[in-house]
Amino acid sequence: MSAPTLGTTVCDHLDPVLPVTGAETLVPRVGAAPIRYANLDVAASAPALASVAERVAEVLPLYASVHRGAGYLSQVSTALYEASRRTIGDFVGARPDDVTVVTRNTTDSLNLLAGCVPAGPDGLPGRVLVLDLEHHANLLPWQRGSATVLTAAPTVSGTLAALRAELARTPYVLLAVTAASNVTGESLPLADVVKIAHDAGARVVLDGAQLVPHRRVSLARSGADWIAFSGHKTYAPFGAGALVGRRDWLDSGTPYLAGGGAVRQVGLDETRWQSAPARHEAGSPNVIGAVALAAACDALAAVDPAELAEHEAVLRRRLVDGLSAIEGVEVVSLWPDAEDPVGVVTFAVEGHDPGFVAAYLSAEHGIGVRDGRFCAHPLLSRLGLTGGAIRASVGVGTAGEEVERLIRALETFVAQGTQVEYTVVDGCWTVVDDPRPVPAGSGLSGLFATAAAGFVAESAGCGPLPE
Ligand SMILES: Cc1ncc(COP(=O)(O)O)c(C=O)c1O
Repeated sequence: MSAPTLGTTVCDHLDPVLPVTGAETLVPRVGAAPIRYANLDVAASAPALASVAERVAEVLPLYASVHRGAGYLSQVSTALYEASRRTIGDFVGARPDDVTVVTRNTTDSLNLLAGCVPAGPDGLPGRVLVLDLEHHANLLPWQRGSATVLTAAPTVSGTLAALRAELARTPYVLLAVTAASNVTGESLPLADVVKIAHDAGARVVLDGAQLVPHRRVSLARSGADWIAFSGHKTYAPFGAGALVGRRDWLDSGTPYLAGGGAVRQVGLDETRWQSAPARHEAGSPNVIGAVALAAACDALAAVDPAELAEHEAVLRRRLVDGLSAIEGVEVVSLWPDAEDPVGVVTFAVEGHDPGFVAAYLSAEHGIGVRDGRFCAHPLLSRLGLTGGAIRASVGVGTAGEEVERLIRALETFVAQGTQVEYTVVDGCWTVVDDPRPVPAGSGLSGLFATAAAGFVAESAGCGPLPE
């Protein structure tokens, strides 16, 4: 960090902890010169660490089929894949008998586990307990089976008490809980949650999508039974995620995908399946994705955890303080007593559609944030944010200047409004006659914003509300 000068804040001078690709990318603005992109949407997808991109470039010439070839490079690729699996498991504190399944992402991992939930002691489908604040990825897979959704209390201690009471009332086989909220960055104390569940005979799966990129998590230390997370949020956007944890359910559960690689023997009348992890990894494995995720795990593991936490704490504190100080801006919190929240901050600007504010930040300031309902519709409804909100998120590649730019841009917005005219096209706020060119060398003929809005609103359910 360089020394603050007169009129600047500590945050202004905060450097990234690790270099990420694209950090110097200039983006066009409307009515102003291009500017370095401020990527404050890393909770959605984080840029690749420079070391991850280098590792991918290094192994690409070695790439060949995995688990399927006697050729030298096939053997190298198989070894790279299996070594990556070990690194990924070690990074989240896997116990010696735990299994690491390489998946596509957190959604994939949680759907996989949902298909392995055994029957309860009463012989009926095993009941799963979830809180109402979960990302859809940690809600919908359980609702396909037998799930109870419990309303979280407005404090951490109240929520722990509600969990304890519900787990005592009904026998559950599993508690599926976020390790850090994708809306507020806040967490429950994981070891306490695990103890409460285990005391009641339920296992615990952590949705680690937002915690793993930000804090050291350990299955062994926390006692949690499984953790699911995504490479693209962990600075490794090459299509891999992971489910790590107890072997027994994964060995006996229905294979997630039916196909080659997951089987021991196939007859026309009967199939004998592999045990985990192969049982759940049918089809050709994503070796590059796994290598990239392992490289990200290695890079994060090499950083002092205290340095990571402090970097993010400074950015988060500045975001919360700076945004809260702007008239009409309200920062959302689930549990004001939560300790050590990660760098995810959601806010609303009174009287303004979140999509409009996000479009302004992009067009006039070169800032990327997320707007909408963040794939957490029940929570946003409970918070009274049925029209959505805006989310700024930071990570190891974030510089303090980006956070300062966001705060200044919102101050300007509230004081003076926008400089250019916006309109809604296909449910998406856009600049009228947007003059911004597509990136040179991208091979694109135009941006996809309006078509994407239609897709998001109707299909993914994550973005602007349909009319
Ligand atoms: C807390 C949380 N869980 C699950 C997911 C789903 O992750 P993915 O889209 O990588 O499957 C997300 C993504 O935003 C998330 O933030």
